[in-house]
Amino acid sequence: MSEERCPTRENRYLTFALTKGRLASQTLALLSRTGISCEEIEDKNSRKLVFVNEELKCRFFLAKGPDVPTYVEYGAADIGVVGKDTILEENRNVYEVLDLGFGKCRMCVCGPKSAGEKLLHHERIRVASKYPNIARDYFYNKKHQTVDIIKLNGSVELGPLVELSDVIVDIVETGSTLKENGLEVLEEICPLSARMIVNPVSMRMETERIKSLIQSMRELNK
Ligand code: PRP
Repeated sequence: MSEERCPTRENRYLTFALTKGRLASQTLALLSRTGISCEEIEDKNSRKLVFVNEELKCRFFLAKGPDVPTYVEYGAADIGVVGKDTILEENRNVYEVLDLGFGKCRMCVCGPKSAGEKLLHHERIRVASKYPNIARDYFYNKKHQTVDIIKLNGSVELGPLVELSDVIVDIVETGSTLKENGLEVLEEICPLSARMIVNPVSMRMETERIKSLIQSMRELNK
């Protein structure tokens, strides 16, 4: 087998999958404080998809949030940074190793005040969400309430406004989207933030490198 296909410890790249957007910028800022940086990725005009720091033997790529746990589960990336909402929704075989402390928000059941009564009486309501698995787990396994779940891909607050659904299960950060649309938080499901995830095989093969990275990031987050 060629060296490229069977890398030795010394020349093996550690690959990071980062969630495109604000999470990636915050992750890169934190990584650079641990001494891991990548000039190439800062170039906004570049059309490149994979960025390399040859000296540190690190590679980085940006992906849509829901795809990050997929890359990590299959070992295409050793490490991923993604929101806890996505980890819960995708339910992939990865280790969640660190809460990075940014991207904080909450997963909530929201709707008009009037829907509160329907929740209270465990009525068979319609729930719209970008997160059908989280919604199903919450209503069926935690609340033991039978509901109809409708998958949407964004602007979920529209659901109760146009009477597609009674409530929504969605992320609340500042609460301003809800407020501007006459909706409110009815129940809180769980707190969310950015997490670091690791491929289980990478964790065994690169224990020292990954553990020391986790330790440095943990120190910075104190
Ligand atoms: C998210 C979420 C809410 C909004 C909450 O949507 O789905 O709509 O942010 O933020 P707030 O509490 O600060 O108002 P996002 O902007 O990601 O777009 P989407 O509606 O297309 O999912």
